[in-house]
Amino acid sequence: MKRTILAAIAALALAGSASAQATLTKSATLPLADGTVSAGEYQYQDTVRGMKVYATLGTDDTLYMAVQASTAGWVGIGVGGLVMNGSRLFMASILDGKPSFIEKAGVGHFYADAKSLVTKKWAVKTADGTTTLELSIPSSSAVWKGQVNATFAYAKSANLSSKHGPYASMTFAVK
Ligand code: HEM
Repeated sequence: MKRTILAAIAALALAGSASAQATLTKSATLPLADGTVSAGEYQYQDTVRGMKVYATLGTDDTLYMAVQASTAGWVGIGVGGLVMNGSRLFMASILDGKPSFIEKAGVGHFYADAKSLVTKKWAVKTADGTTTLELSIPSSSAVWKGQVNATFAYAKSANLSSKHGPYASMTFAVK
């Protein structure tokens, strides 16, 4: 009985945190930002809260990230924190038929204009009810004390000021 309760508490704790651990080492296989993720394109891949998340730390000192979710709404990636506040947020969707992308500074549970923009390349695509954002940024803008803290989220709406549903946080150790 005690064990069942402990297992239930552990399961609840895991479900609540939605965080995972991952490791990135420099890779010379660089992803291509075209809105389509192919098998083996990224060195790291996982599924969190219904989102497929991808990352590669390039030998070109660039961090490549992607997120994919079953939605025709926006998908987003945040770096520099495990919560929205203080993170650099990237959001993208196909809005009125056009690829739309913003890079913002997370403030509380919304965002403001970032002081400077770090995005190198981005691409967003919606196909078969799945939206994918691929992004590259200088690794120096995301790696801090040997790790990258990141967040991911997606929304039902493609409007980039509408709130998300599921979200997740994750730490990548950089080796
Ligand atoms: C229009 C933009 C956004 C709005 C209005 C918004 C709103 C919110 C709100 C109200 C919460 C509190 C928890 C809840 O009510 O479910 C929250 C939490 C969260 N959001 Fe967002 N969000 C936005 C964009 C983003 C983006 C782009 C990301 C990451 C890519 C993100 C990641 C998170 C995470 C990780 C949490 C939990 C930690 C925290 O409280 O910051 N959000 N968001």
